[in-house]
Amino acid sequence: MPKLKVVTFGCQANELDSARIAGILAREGYTLTEDEAEADLVILNGCSIREKAEQKLFSRLGTLQALKAENPRLRLGVAGCLAQREGETLLRRFPYLDFVVGNGEHLAEIPQLLSIAPGRPAVAASEPVGLFPEDADIHRHSRIRAWVGIMEGCDNFCTFCVVPFTRGRERSRYPDDILHEVVRLRGAGYREITLLGQTVNSYGKKLDPPVPFAELLRRINVAVGPAMRVRFTTSYPPDVTPALAEAMAALPSVCEHIHLPVQTGSTRTLAHMKRTYTREDYLEKVAMLRAAVPDLAITTDIIVGFPGETDVDFAETLSLMEEVGFDGCFAFKFSPRSGTPAVDLPDQAPEPVKAARLSRVLELQRALSLQRNRAVVGRVVEVLVDRGLSKRDSGLAAGRTRQNKIVHFQGGELEEGQLVNVEITEATSHHLKGVLIASS
Ligand code: 5AD
Ligand code: SF4
Repeated sequence: MPKLKVVTFGCQANELDSARIAGILAREGYTLTEDEAEADLVILNGCSIREKAEQKLFSRLGTLQALKAENPRLRLGVAGCLAQREGETLLRRFPYLDFVVGNGEHLAEIPQLLSIAPGRPAVAASEPVGLFPEDADIHRHSRIRAWVGIMEGCDNFCTFCVVPFTRGRERSRYPDDILHEVVRLRGAGYREITLLGQTVNSYGKKLDPPVPFAELLRRINVAVGPAMRVRFTTSYPPDVTPALAEAMAALPSVCEHIHLPVQTGSTRTLAHMKRTYTREDYLEKVAMLRAAVPDLAITTDIIVGFPGETDVDFAETLSLMEEVGFDGCFAFKFSPRSGTPAVDLPDQAPEPVKAARLSRVLELQRALSLQRNRAVVGRVVEVLVDRGLSKRDSGLAAGRTRQNKIVHFQGGELEEGQLVNVEITEATSHHLKGVLIASS
């Protein structure tokens, strides 16, 4: 049986696409391997959101070229946002590639691309339309946690972002298809799902009739019952509605966590980014969510060194971080991406300024995370046991709270996917520590 290795560089959406690719090729007789040396086919599924992500993939291609020189039967493909963006250009730059395949329904074309004779490279990367192949089996790694794609693409066109180009226009999956998948996952023993979309909370606006995201959450809550945790990511601040806050408060399966990228605390910079909200709007959304959902954890994304960002603008990012008290944050140096308007904006920040600002954001976030985590010490929290999080040889079990915080705790032999109560005794900025109280 031919062997396949899929290497993912990028976000959760890319990971889910890799699981779809593995499922599509399983039907063609491929089995998965971790070992490149024994693979007949290697697919690099790559991200292009920042230049660094692209470079990682390019350097991996270099190593694979050497492997292909030794084993000419090896076939190589590039998939994902990078493939979507670069298309033909990739084949010209890396002539030893066999195929390049873009996002969305293009994934279903992989078997066809493989049937083309070796040595005749092929591309399927026209603008992504439709959703993902609905009938593809998804080859998931975890037996307890699953990503569930509910929408694709984005219509916001933030001035720094390639996503509207790589994933196309916003389009939502039908609620019934989502509900079928979710019920199947519950039946297969999954204990947590994360609904995925680039702006997940603008789900359903274009469906006929429209289905608000809060309504989808209600339907999912009924379908899965209390035994399953439901998460969602990523949320776009203007699409946070009172109905969403109410749904999060009312639905027992929906976890008390929202990932809500702010990007910057400066209203001036937000306007340059075309984020369509102000600092005050963002803070109002946070206040609304917190008023409705006790114990809500809020995480965010921040970009430093956006063109034109002054010291004063940057200070506003730091002050917003403190004002909100984020539980966690992914911070990035602005990376100019060709084809996006931000490349041509004046006052591009020099690298050392970006680096210094990034360090300050990370340092402040460490202190904020510690503060937020310390607030949990002394409390008893519900933890979903997850073997993948255990540190080897530590003898400790591990899992996540409903707020998505990692907990390491003492507590015998536990089954993966079990829900247990843990008393938190210590906190660091990365995780919590505790002792097992009782299984539930
Ligand atoms: N440069 C730096 N960070 C970016 N992001 C998106 N595009 C860029 C870019 N050009 C970040 C944003 C987004 C996250 C997924 O990646 O913070 O929320
Ligand atoms: Fe990119 Fe998110 Fe803006 Fe859409 S909303 S353009 S995915 S940063």
